[in-house]
Order: sequence, then C-alpha cells, then structure tokens
Amino acid sequence: MCRIFAAALADGQVGPVLKVGLKRLEYGGYDSSGMATIDQGKLKIKKGVGKLDEVDRSVKFDELSGNIGIAHNRWATHGYPSVTNAHPQVDCTGKIAVVHNGVIENFLEIKEELAERGHEFMSRTDTEVIAHLIEDYIKKGMDFLNSTINAIKELKGSYALAILYSAEPDKVMLVKNESPLMLGIGDDGNYAASDPVAFVDHTNRVIQLEDGELAIITPKSYKVYRISDQGLVNHNIETVDINVNDVNKGGYRHYMLKEIMEQPVAISYALNLQIQYLDVVSELVRRSRITYLIGAGSSYHSCMAGSYMLSQISGLPTIPAVASEFIQQFGKTLNPDSTVILASQSGETADVLKVASYARLKASTIISITNVVSSTITRLSRAYIIQQAGPEIGVAATKTYTTQLLVYYQLAVKLAKKSGSITEMEINSYMKGLRELPRLADKVLKDVREPISKLATELKDAGHIFFLGRGINTATAYEGRLKMLEISYIPSSAFSAGESKHGPIALIENNSPVIFLAPDDASRKVMLGNIMEIRARGGKAIVFGNEVDSELKQASDEFIGMPQINEMLTPIIYILPLQLLAYNTAILKGYDPDKPRNLAKSVTVL
Ligand code: AGP
Repeated sequence: MCRIFAAALADGQVGPVLKVGLKRLEYGGYDSSGMATIDQGKLKIKKGVGKLDEVDRSVKFDELSGNIGIAHNRWATHGYPSVTNAHPQVDCTGKIAVVHNGVIENFLEIKEELAERGHEFMSRTDTEVIAHLIEDYIKKGMDFLNSTINAIKELKGSYALAILYSAEPDKVMLVKNESPLMLGIGDDGNYAASDPVAFVDHTNRVIQLEDGELAIITPKSYKVYRISDQGLVNHNIETVDINVNDVNKGGYRHYMLKEIMEQPVAISYALNLQIQYLDVVSELVRRSRITYLIGAGSSYHSCMAGSYMLSQISGLPTIPAVASEFIQQFGKTLNPDSTVILASQSGETADVLKVASYARLKASTIISITNVVSSTITRLSRAYIIQQAGPEIGVAATKTYTTQLLVYYQLAVKLAKKSGSITEMEINSYMKGLRELPRLADKVLKDVREPISKLATELKDAGHIFFLGRGINTATAYEGRLKMLEISYIPSSAFSAGESKHGPIALIENNSPVIFLAPDDASRKVMLGNIMEIRARGGKAIVFGNEVDSELKQASDEFIGMPQINEMLTPIIYILPLQLLAYNTAILKGYDPDKPRNLAKSVTVL
C-alpha cells in the first residue's frame, strides 16, 4: 500500500509542505519517494529510492519551487524499487504527472494498446499507463477534466490518484476508487491525502471522497464530481481529531492495532491480484506431480489453510510443511516434477530461503507468495504473487496472514476454473464470498471490539489457554494460539478438536479457558460434542460461531457471534477476533504488542 499527498497553496512554496506530509505517511511505504510541482507552467520532478530522509538528502525536496504539488511514498507491488519505477510517473510529453496508491488490474492490456499508438513507457509500473491514457485524450482535444474522466473509465482495479497537468497549472486532479483518499479544506490552501495525518497541521476539516468520485482542488476552491455522470457531488465537511504524535501509526496506539484494523482495505487490495501472475502460478501448479506449501510461523498456518482450500475448491492435493523441517522430511522426494510454494511475508526467512536453494538443486519449480516485491525469495522464484497487504511493521503477522490466505483462495478458484472441476454456479458462489469479504471483515472488527475487550479482561491472568478448531479452522486455532502466546506470553495450546480425546483433554481443569472456532460448516455437529466434552470436565467453553446458531450459543459458556460466509473463507473472518484478543490481552498485561520479547519481524537466521 503506497501513500499519496497533494497540496494547492494560496501562497508559499509547496515543497516543504509535501515533505512534512510524506514523512507522516512513511508507515505506508518506504521503497521510494517522489514529488512533482508546477512552477511557471513547467512540471518539476524529484524522486529517489529508499526512505524519505535518504532520498531527501540526495534530491533536496525543499528546493522544488511552485505552490501546487503532488507527492508519493511507494510500497512496490509492480516493478522493483528503482528511480524509474518511483512515482510520480509521467506521460510522453512530460506535462502530466501521476501518483497512485492501489493496483490497476488491466494495466498490461492498456499498455499494449497505448504502445501500439506510439506511446513510449519508461517504467514497469501499472501507474504509468494512467499518465499516457490522459495524454491520449488530451491529444484528441479534450480538456484535463474530461481527459481524466475518460481515462479513469478504462481502468479496472483500486486507485487513489493525484494528477498534475502543466498546461492547467492552477489545479490538482484527485480520483478515488477503493483506495483511501480524502480532501483537506484549509484557509491557506486545499489538500488531499491517503490519510489526514499528512495535512492535519494545516486543517482538520476533511471531505471523505467516495469510490467513483473525482475532485479538483485549487488554492482557493474545490469541486467533487461523480465520474459516472459527471454530476457535482455535495459532501459535508467533517472535522477529524488526530494526535500528530501518533502519525506513523495512523492515529492508533500501536502498529499491530492499525494493521489489524486496516485489514478490510488490505483484503480489498489482495482481491486485485494481477490476473496474469495468478495464471502463470496456477499453470505451473497444474502441471506439477506434487505441490508442497511451505512456510514458518503464521506463514505455515496459512499453508495449512491453503491446503484445505486447494483440495476442497480445486480437488488438488497438496502437502503443507514447516520450512525448518521440510528438507529432512521431504527433501528426498523433490525432483523436476515437484513444485514448492513458499509463503513468506518478508521473503527473507532463512528457513524458507534454505528450502528454496535446496529445491533449486533438485530442479523443482519454485513459487513464492510474499509481501515484499524486492525480497530475496522473489529472486529465487520462477514466479511469485505479491500479497499487496502494504508494509507490516508490528512483529505479529496480522494483515499479511489474511492476505496470504486470500492468495491461496484465489489460486484454488483459478485452478478449479482451469480444471473444470467445479460448476459455474459454484465458481460464482466462491467469487461472491470474495466480494463480500472487505465489508464483512469491517463489520466483524467493529462488532467484536466490545466482547473481545471483555474477554481479554477475563483471560489476562489465565495460566493456559486452549484453541480448538476443526477442518480448515484447525489452522485458525493454530494462528490464534500463536498470536496469544507471542504477544501476551500466556502459555497456549492449539489442536484439532478431534484430537482432544487423544491426550490434550487431560490438561482440562475447572475453568480452563477453551476457545472453539465453530462456524456453520461440515464439522459443526462434532464440534458441538467437543464443546460438551470440555464443559463436562469443568472447562470454560468460549465459542466463536454463526451469529444465528442458537443451539451452539446455548451450549457455550461464552458465545461470540460471527457472520455466515462460505467455509473456505471462515479462516479469514474467524482470525480477526483472535488477533484483537491477543492484542487486548497484551495491553492489559502491560506489554508492547509491537515489540514482543525475544522476537524479530523477520527471522533471517537458521
Ligand atoms: C507471526 O506472528 C510471527 N511473527 C512469525 O511466526 C512469522 O510469521 C514467521 O517468522 C514467518 O515470517 P515470514 O512470513 O516473513 O516468513
């Protein structure tokens, strides 16, 4: 997830204002930074690779002249971090500059069409096509506004855009679709940013743009249009209350909470995976004799759930394996007909890289799922898919776990389509579940805050907490346990509920807290039996289940209702309250959830 910022000042130089704003947005991306201003009818651009301060030392952003400008922090999703791929991106004439946060799904086909019309591209980004599209319409005699509207109508995907055109030097064009973007209405000028922290010291009066809207800001005015019919839109101006001291955490107390709460947005980005990447990976998997899903920690748990998705949705058997065990356990089975899918949000986990090197020696196909475009794992892979979750600063994996699950889910549906193993109606049902996900995730995160806060108070002094799931939610139990033990340090166990009677139930004492993940799926009936078994031995059954399941609620000591969603997507919804539970418990125990003891964000040693 990148971040964008734009300003149109009544007077004074915009360079320093843009730099301060970008600094506050740095949590959103720090592969590269750049700015463009208009001064005396000319576009001026400065950009570079690295964190903002490093880039500023070499390009000196403050020296950019002009009172109107746009700025960008990049978190690469397409094209390695490089000056050429840094934003702003420009058109052939160098009169149009664009900064972008989001993913243009159909950029390759647009790029091909424009290239046939003579446009020359400098970067590998999806963003650059937007500048050339607008240029194309201006060449046909349209003005800036109509060229932008027509260009936008050709785009598919998510975008928050800020655009300059030096021939109309008094304005900034803003466009919003799925990526966050809001206006700041000030006395000394007008602003737009992915997050109001960028301009909060100039104004706290904001207008939240809606999807499909285009805004024009000048130093003394603003207008908002609906792109579909170019109708004018009249939004109320709200005031925001932001503590500038917490700017890098988007106003949240900890990165972990910010990253938990931004999952609806991260999920919507992960829904816009590049179709061609998914095509390549699914073809490689389809041709493989055997496919292993390999990861460490949370990334291993996503492989557990991914294995259920691939077998249940596309009929493809796969073997999930822990990275540190894989070579000893399966190394001898690797050959040119094998495929290893390596899940690693950092792309730097030593255990995973070791498997990649070993698989290379065996001439196996290496595919990776990662959150970092320029990471080592992408260089060792034949193909990779970027999760598009944006930077995750908190040590505990949250949004990178749910977006990894989404990659597996979309891969499973793609494979099912290719093999014809499911009907059109089933495919539509799986896709419908995907479309509902961002809204459902947002609803769950709001609905469970109160009950989870209460549950954390009850559990904070527990001696041992148990997490039980069945089927695909065995992975959810494992992940919920990892969250709890790694940031609140409470000893916790997780296992498939069917395993209770094979040993773990010996640990149950009076009031032992046992958390059950019990969605309305194939294992609900036996899960009900497991809940009764645990309660019969004095355990306290804390159950997450379908909000309308009154029988389950009746059978629980504590019940937290969850929305109905297709079984294969339940791990994404059911992990959300467990992330919040771990976070709240750690806070109550006085720990820093962003920096848990003994842990690092990326384990780069074996
Ligand atoms: C997750 O909360 C942990 N911090 C840890 O288990 C992590 O998932 C693991 O180290 C794997 O990291 P990776 O995804 O970057 O490879």
